Amino acid sequence: MNIVVAVTGGIAAYKTVHLVRLLIKAGHDVTVVPTEDALRFVGTPTWEAISRHPVTTSVHDDVAKVRHVALGQAADLVIVAPATANSIAKMTAGLADDLFGTTLLATEAPVLIAPAMHAEMWRHPATRANIETLRGRGVHIVGPADGELAGGDSGPGRMSEPEEIFAAAQALFAPRDFDGVRVVISAGGTREPIDPVRFLGNRSSGRQGVALAAEAAARGAAVVLIAANISGDVLAAAQHPSIRVVTAGSADELQAAMADAAPEADVVVMAAAVADYRPVAVSDRKLTKETGGIPSIELVENADIVAGLVASRAPGQVIVGFAAETPEDEQELIDRARRKQQRKGVDLLVVNEVGWDRGFESADNAVHIFGDEGMPPAIAAGSKREVAAAVWDAVRATLSSDRI
Ligand code: CTP
Repeated sequence: MNIVVAVTGGIAAYKTVHLVRLLIKAGHDVTVVPTEDALRFVGTPTWEAISRHPVTTSVHDDVAKVRHVALGQAADLVIVAPATANSIAKMTAGLADDLFGTTLLATEAPVLIAPAMHAEMWRHPATRANIETLRGRGVHIVGPADGELAGGDSGPGRMSEPEEIFAAAQALFAPRDFDGVRVVISAGGTREPIDPVRFLGNRSSGRQGVALAAEAAARGAAVVLIAANISGDVLAAAQHPSIRVVTAGSADELQAAMADAAPEADVVVMAAAVADYRPVAVSDRKLTKETGGIPSIELVENADIVAGLVASRAPGQVIVGFAAETPEDEQELIDRARRKQQRKGVDLLVVNEVGWDRGFESADNAVHIFGDEGMPPAIAAGSKREVAAAVWDAVRATLSSDRI
């Protein structure tokens, strides 16, 4: 897609650099249109290098190509990030004294704005009225978030994180094939406490599960995301009005949260990496060397959560399992996956190969999606969001039509 990212003069402009990177990584062609003020925060070389397109602010540059309207006409989407109070007022009034103004007047594409300003400015009746006018014209608005603002103040006015703006942009074009579908997704990795400072854990960051939640919400689903030990910056990508986040620490807590949420769901996805074992005894006090000897930790098996969910599933409910494997070769991956799918009784099993240096923490993933016994697995690779889209495509094909 052709995307224009208009940048106006706020400190949050530095975060827009990351937004442009996300858009380009997802395969979009991005042209950046900064205002003169925006260039005081982030300069032309950065925008040109990151977007790989020339950057100008004035309607008098590149006149032969009628650039002042051409950019807006050719755009499939215009994003304004950050959108300052001044630029919002300017858009509302339809002012066109620079390339930002003319581009926005010349476009018929969807417009998505990410407001950023001080809380007082956001609450001011002038801004409120402008936002309502823009909303009435069909402009999409993401944020602002509540949080720390420049100068140490806090309140509503902080620009949404780049991942959230990216997700909002994707959502504008996503199919709405999960409208009315309720999904529960577990994500992250459980931690089994040993003592107040130590635990048995795993390397799952929760990125794939968060991407599944964001994609499902974009496609219309109502999502409960059970997050096991996911860091705040990863979880930021799950900020969406249709996503409710519930946190869980250990496998026991995750099991309780799933038991609570799953009965209402049409689709349950167990993307969390669950510890198979936990220490028999948890010490109330930190184990120290003075305790004496090398400690040996006795373990007891945790419940198999997904097997329990399968056993008590509601009629028509689709259950998806995940597995991270380290197979010797493709055949071993397939054999293990088929055995695991049968053992767990899940409708779909999503398998990714992991190793010391792949699968974890990264933005990309590659998976095999095992469904019907007789069918070869579907293969999906790319960003975790693209992999998430492939998983939901497979779920959609499995979900009976009366559940939609
Ligand atoms: N799972 C679960 N409860 C557990 C362990 C795993 O619900 N106690 C779920 C995971 O969330 C995942 C699927 O089962 O969806 C497969 O996880 P995996 O760890 O690969 O399964 P295991 O049965 O532990 O198999 P392995 O012996 O290969 O570790």
